[in-house]
Amino acid sequence: MCGIVGAVSHRDVVADLVEGLRRLEYRGYDSAGVAILNDGNIQNRRAVGKVAKLADLIKEQPLTGTTGVAHTRWATHGVPAERNAHPHRSGEDVVVVHNGIIENHAELRDSLKADGYTFQSETDTEVIAHLLARHLKSGLSLEASVKAAREELVGAYGMAAISPHEPDVMVVARAGSPLVIGIADDEHLIASDVFALLPITQRFIFLEEGDVAVLSRKTIAIFDSENNAVVRDEKFSEVSAENTEKGHYEHYMLKEIYEQPAVIAETLEGRIYKGRLLEESFGHTATELFDKTKNIHIIACGTSYHAGLVAKYWLEEIGIPCHVEVASEYRYRQVVVPEGTLFISVSQSGETADTLAALRAGKGAKYLGCLTVCNVPESSLVRESDVAVMTRAGKEIGVASTKAFTTQLVALRLITIALARRQGMNQDQEKALVEELHALPRQVEVVLELADEIKAMAASFADKQNALFLGRGTFYPIAMEGALKLKEISYIHAEAYAAGELKHGPLALVDEIMPVVCALPDDPLLEKVLSNLQEVRARGGELFLFSDKKVKIPLDKYQDLKLDDICPSTAPIVYSIPLQLLSYFVALEKGTDVDQPRNLAKSVTVE
Ligand code: F6R
Repeated sequence: MCGIVGAVSHRDVVADLVEGLRRLEYRGYDSAGVAILNDGNIQNRRAVGKVAKLADLIKEQPLTGTTGVAHTRWATHGVPAERNAHPHRSGEDVVVVHNGIIENHAELRDSLKADGYTFQSETDTEVIAHLLARHLKSGLSLEASVKAAREELVGAYGMAAISPHEPDVMVVARAGSPLVIGIADDEHLIASDVFALLPITQRFIFLEEGDVAVLSRKTIAIFDSENNAVVRDEKFSEVSAENTEKGHYEHYMLKEIYEQPAVIAETLEGRIYKGRLLEESFGHTATELFDKTKNIHIIACGTSYHAGLVAKYWLEEIGIPCHVEVASEYRYRQVVVPEGTLFISVSQSGETADTLAALRAGKGAKYLGCLTVCNVPESSLVRESDVAVMTRAGKEIGVASTKAFTTQLVALRLITIALARRQGMNQDQEKALVEELHALPRQVEVVLELADEIKAMAASFADKQNALFLGRGTFYPIAMEGALKLKEISYIHAEAYAAGELKHGPLALVDEIMPVVCALPDDPLLEKVLSNLQEVRARGGELFLFSDKKVKIPLDKYQDLKLDDICPSTAPIVYSIPLQLLSYFVALEKGTDVDQPRNLAKSVTVE
């Protein structure tokens, strides 16, 4: 979840390292630091808080150098404090940055202390620095030291090390946390994510699990986990630095909400045509898997889990049993896998530690195969799955997921249609469903035009401490997603309930100051939901509704926003948009940090 950047170059790299950190800040923002090799010394600057604090410090106390590493932290071991901020060094021998968790850090720490090493921080990372120093002191090169340390370290990590003893070299290792090498003129760079390096290069090499790479300005040598010299292909990233900027939007989250019509269209591109699903676009392996699929297990975390829950309703409607579970539970329990079950992981980043571990557990079980619905083509989940159905949401930077969620739903909808064909859906039925998907980008655009009304609604939330979100059917997981968005970015305690569950307990919470949010599409469950809302009104609860224009609301008091002409199969996707905007405007009212809410990070690469 931390972000790392590094460079070996012919020119001063400090400004680029800080810019790289700024672009990686979504991965963690408790503290940040840079270390540079300068005239046989290690010079570093570290600051608590966001990267801007580090940039200010560097302005006051400038640094220059051609080889350096940098880090933005999401605290795991040790509170956010300067002493715990990376880079961590061992005297004048070596300095490291690390993303991940070293599980055996306590025993390594004891052994290093016994050898006279003193620790400045509570982090697991400092152990790596001293371990490398111990190997360097025994006469090993930096490369050999990192390779030796790789044998001793247990856990997941991406790391980079530099040493004044070999000032033109950087050694990096990848074991469980993403790491990419950027190739530019007379220099090499590294980062946890290509995004950090896009202003400098679009040429990348993605390291694989267990790889160690030794970089100089002109050379790259890569060694796999068995220490064989290997060549990893160079890839060109289609993403450019410009289209990952905020533009005229106040926040990335808002920009990403507004990008939804375009990215939904992009996710459909080449996959539907003239009322038909173009199943070939998923590839041959997918088609073969779909032919054999009798059951589905969907595994994911957070927002992606909510997308999976919506898909469960869709899949069971066409007769395919579907179990959906959060990855952190799935990975540690005995799972029964019925014959003919397809494993589906859903993830924006493709690097979520629990989801990745679940995939690896799934690969050892008797699944037909593993499919991932993912947004990052180069991610571990994509590489390790048999089939990837890519969402084409583009880079999502706001910590609260928006466009990744709606495009996941689109991808899951396409998969549902592919499977419905095998369940006997006829061409006319397929045409109707595909047309509904085709109409989706425009429907989302229309809802976005209601932003001012949603903003007005949000004003009533600013002084609230709690909120309830209700829904039935596919709108229950949409309510869960609405509640998650609100709590994440506005810090209002929000819970979602299946509307029918209200009277089994949560109704006790409802009084005149409790806001209750509910989507009211024109569907067969409407009357049921309306009677649940009567129960809320009878206790004085304040209702905030998003309803279909055709729906008549027989309630005495409520605030309502009308949505027009929403198709049944895609309604959960469209109704997500006003809930995203509601959370956004509530957070604006409250003045919280929308894009980087407290205690969170975008890509959860630790357990
Ligand atoms: C919430 C949010 C998280 C992620 C979760 C899984 O807005 O973004 O709940 O959905 O951390 O992340 P991915 O989808 O990258 O596996």
